[in-house]
Amino acid sequence: MAYEMIIVEIADHICVIKLNRPKALNALNGQLVAELGDAVTHAEANDKVRCMVITGSEKVFAAGADIIEMAEKTFVDVASGDLFGASMMPVQDAKKPIIAAVSGYALGGGCELAMMCDFIICADNAKFGQPEINLGVIAGIGGTQRLTRFVGKSKAMDMNLTGRFMDAEEAERSGLVSRVVPVKRLMEVTLDVAAKIAEKSQISIKAVKDSVNRSYETTLAEGLLFERRVFHSMFATDDQKEGMAAFVEKREPQFRDK
Ligand code: CAA
Repeated sequence: MAYEMIIVEIADHICVIKLNRPKALNALNGQLVAELGDAVTHAEANDKVRCMVITGSEKVFAAGADIIEMAEKTFVDVASGDLFGASMMPVQDAKKPIIAAVSGYALGGGCELAMMCDFIICADNAKFGQPEINLGVIAGIGGTQRLTRFVGKSKAMDMNLTGRFMDAEEAERSGLVSRVVPVKRLMEVTLDVAAKIAEKSQISIKAVKDSVNRSYETTLAEGLLFERRVFHSMFATDDQKEGMAAFVEKREPQFRDK
């Protein structure tokens, strides 16, 4: 697929997917979402890729679903086409880690796309929000669900009911983002973080994703059992032998994803 609304660059085992629809502030229309899904699917299948980064421009990560494209749609249109259902699954279900690098606005579907990634690093100019209430609708890609799990009921209600924006400082304080960095250093820091992830055993990386994500879906007792069983299973890998031997021998581990 030739991309017109995203730019994909792969270097040093990191696939950077840059949303690039500046005239519409990276609004998520059908084409952009299809291109994003295709890029993530290809990165998943590419053995050279060990970590992905989704980012936007300095001004905007994404200003949400494309309002102009949605404005005339009926209930039947969006329900029968399952708007933002299957089309978002490549990001949601990715096995490889995805970092959202957010600068500027991450609103509506933009905030939801960022939350769908494994974690968010944001610039100090970032603004997060779920302003769908101002459009006579509600969030539709996780703004009432993932946001509540990130920041708790009170802030999630506040943001979804009023449509107010949350700045970077509040986002970090509330647990929405993992780090805030100066806007000019966003990609440098994010690529550094991605490089650290890329050098780990991909078996352990997948096990971490599975286990952390499981914590959303199950009770604590079941989650702890799941984690312990996954931990036990790691002892069947060469990378466990290598990682622990390297520690004992005071050297850097050479993981082989085996
Ligand atoms: N969809 C379509 N086009 C959009 C857009 C969107 N979500 N957001 C911005 N644009 C377009 C504008 O229409 C404008 O286009 P023109 O130049 O052709 O008029 C262009 O991008 C620039 O936008 P502004 O002039 O508004 O830029 P600004 O700097 O003054 O304001 C902003 C920036 C605060 C982000 C403002 O654009 C804004 O409020 N955008 C809408 C945010 C929003 O409501 N998002 C939720 C969408 S619904 C959703 O996401 C549902 C869901 O959960 C699935």
